[in-house]
Amino acid sequence: MSKFLSLGKQINEAVKRCGFDDEVTLSISNRPDLGEFQINDAMRFAKIYHKNPVEIANTIKEELDKTGLFKEVSIAGAGFINLTLSDNVLVDFVNEIKDDVNSNIDKMEAKTIFLDYGGANVAKALHVGHLRPANIGEGLKRLAKTLGHKTISDVHLGDSGLQAGIVMLEMKSRFPDLPCFKEGYNGEDFELPIVKEDLKEIYPTGSQKAHEDEALMEEARKITFELQRDNKCYNTLWNKITALSVADIKETYDLLNCDFDLYEGERDSFKYIPDMLKDLENKNLLTKSEGATVIDIKQDTDTKEMPPVILVKSDGAYLYATTDLATIKERMERFNPDEIWYVTDLRQSLHFEQVFRAAKMAGYVPNTELRHLGNGTLNGPDGKPFKTRAGGVMSLEELIKMIYDACYSRINDDIVEASKKEDTAMKIALAALKYADYLPYRETDYIFDINKFTDLDGKTGPYLLYSTIRIKSLLNKASEENFEFNNYSILTNKTDREVLLTLLQLPIILNRAYESKSINEVAEYIYKLTSIYNKFYSENRILTEENAELKASWLVLSKLVYNTNMMLLNIMGINCPEKM
Ligand code: ARG
Repeated sequence: MSKFLSLGKQINEAVKRCGFDDEVTLSISNRPDLGEFQINDAMRFAKIYHKNPVEIANTIKEELDKTGLFKEVSIAGAGFINLTLSDNVLVDFVNEIKDDVNSNIDKMEAKTIFLDYGGANVAKALHVGHLRPANIGEGLKRLAKTLGHKTISDVHLGDSGLQAGIVMLEMKSRFPDLPCFKEGYNGEDFELPIVKEDLKEIYPTGSQKAHEDEALMEEARKITFELQRDNKCYNTLWNKITALSVADIKETYDLLNCDFDLYEGERDSFKYIPDMLKDLENKNLLTKSEGATVIDIKQDTDTKEMPPVILVKSDGAYLYATTDLATIKERMERFNPDEIWYVTDLRQSLHFEQVFRAAKMAGYVPNTELRHLGNGTLNGPDGKPFKTRAGGVMSLEELIKMIYDACYSRINDDIVEASKKEDTAMKIALAALKYADYLPYRETDYIFDINKFTDLDGKTGPYLLYSTIRIKSLLNKASEENFEFNNYSILTNKTDREVLLTLLQLPIILNRAYESKSINEVAEYIYKLTSIYNKFYSENRILTEENAELKASWLVLSKLVYNTNMMLLNIMGINCPEKM
């Protein structure tokens, strides 16, 4: 149990001793001039117990004074209780968590959470729009794990849409002699005549052709349809293209530190679709609308238009909602999770609302919570989704390269060995990009600003890395001197107190981030902790301090901040270089 939680418990025991059969909430003070923490429940208690709130606050104060937990308990205004911790509580706190920062976290009751994020599309390049769902999904997964949940993650590839038809049509025009295009093809193996670089060009070329010629577009649609019906030729070809494309996609996800348990896709749900349609039919949920098979999901309480979920188009083709609904059925059968989280652009929220309703109506998720965690976009200076100079869609690779180049040029060759320069620049670049992406609330859009993101003195990834590396180097130097820093005993009550009060808040921050399903709280917190520690670092000459006990205490404190930072950087999927 974290110190913060245990303080809350001890306070409530005191409240009980006062004769109240109710609980108070310990919160961080928003008036630090009056106290470090506060309890604002006396006014609520006054109504329940028909007493004067100041009197209630005084009764609680008397009992709290007896606990010895507080150096000062004071009452303000209508009955606000302000608290300032005793020094020994903070000293004990450090000694309790110094060997394991995880003991400063409150684990939650473990659930199985299935996360669907990333959402790359096969045979198409990852673009800027894929950054946030990947990043946010990964961060939420790591946060959930840190808090004790079991997670299963799937990238859920977009592999059954029209791009399949377009790419395979283009392949047919370039390589008509491929075995799979021969009459009577029986599934025998063959080598794909392209490499992954070719894919970057095949889809755009094919797409342009199809958009200029309706007959080609129709052909592409037909191929897509055939793929959905297990056509041997297209199935084999598309499997090969998928493998090639996924290898490429995976490289970018690896860079971003996104590791998915599953690299499955829309197509994996195909085998569930026929039975699902039968089942929905038996449950009387299907209706026909202009030749299409749909589920009407309207409810009397709707305040906005709720279009029906289209499962089979009039030409027999399946849609995005069809595979998503079948995938829910599949995930329930295979993993039976307590919750399924989808991280995608906010603009997909209607789609998910529709699919979730259909899933509930069909009884597929009796005890499972489905959540769409929408994300805002990464915009250019014009406030619209970030584009290339030429105005085209910017690939994620290009975006990373831009920020990498900026970081590479700033590396100090006296500090970083030549052989580590590229790796270091990449780590800094990704820290810059990922941290900037986590800072705004999940649903909020933000503007790409390379100077701001990479500024070593700003609220940035590079600042956090630089500061964390500096603590590490301090700890290394102390270890080289064989200095023992096991015991924390002296609190000087200057900036060290602020550092400890900030550390004490960690469990609340993590819980709040989990509640809001947004890492922004964590991003703000690590900056706050790092800045306060840096102030402490600049005020004290730690290594040359002559009082051995004080030096030891400062080093223990530094190690605690270092380990906490590493834990938080890990939640954000940010790797720290050795030097920078
Ligand atoms: N491939 C989709 C896209 O690029 C995202 C997929 C999200 N997940 C899902 N189950 N629909 O927008």
